[in-house]
Amino acid sequence: MKPEVRIFKDLEELSRAAAEIFVEQFAQSIAERNRFLVALNGGNTPTRLFQLLATDFRENVDWRNVHVFWGDERCVPPGDSGSSYGQARGALLSYVPIPDANIHRIKGELDPVEASKDYSLILKDFAPPPLEWPRFDLVYLGMGEDGHTASLFPGSPVDVPDPTLPVTVQYQDRPANRVTLTPVVFNSARLVVFMATGEKKAQTYAEVVSDRYNPELYPAQRIHPADGELIWLVDKAIASKLPQDLR
Ligand code: 6PG
Repeated sequence: MKPEVRIFKDLEELSRAAAEIFVEQFAQSIAERNRFLVALNGGNTPTRLFQLLATDFRENVDWRNVHVFWGDERCVPPGDSGSSYGQARGALLSYVPIPDANIHRIKGELDPVEASKDYSLILKDFAPPPLEWPRFDLVYLGMGEDGHTASLFPGSPVDVPDPTLPVTVQYQDRPANRVTLTPVVFNSARLVVFMATGEKKAQTYAEVVSDRYNPELYPAQRIHPADGELIWLVDKAIASKLPQDLR
């Protein structure tokens, strides 16, 4: 199935669309299940989305019913500039009335194996049996220039049965200890929204959404919700190498 691709002028427009999706999914989830489970991503791309949710869109959400999780985390303390939790706290969570008990962070201060175990127990609390993880109402993901998403890197195992995985990679010349959710979790979500921009990622992006399926090399291709939707929010620059029928 061809993914749904929405192309925007720039990151600002793209982030507004991502915030509108948050508000819509929130309303629908509350109406149907009375709570909203969202998984955030890290990296540079979602910062503007977080700011918009904390300002222009703040009053459109009853934050007491929002439960926030993360698709992945770097193993650094929460106050470190590399912490995805810290980033979301600084741009969004400290500005909205979300109860602390609804913030389900990956404990980056632990080593990856311990943090991964701890997170899998947190997920279990929200799992509809027989699943051992929640069906997220909304998952935001980014994509790296190499086609990685969350902390699923090229060459990492494709079929992982566990919901969380400790990761130790050499990434951009620095070792990175991380924890990531795995495709079984992402693919049971109700809606997955990728956000990606920039000419530098255009070639990889064209490969990722092509019919050439190579999930080993392009981990973003591992994401295809079984009973949910997948939407790509991208800017013109990253879409510049897409075939006409996807633009
Ligand atoms: C992280 C995410 C990673 C990210 C991509 C894109 O770094 O926290 O794990 O998958 O979404 O690397 O990052 P940018 O948005 O910074 O390009």
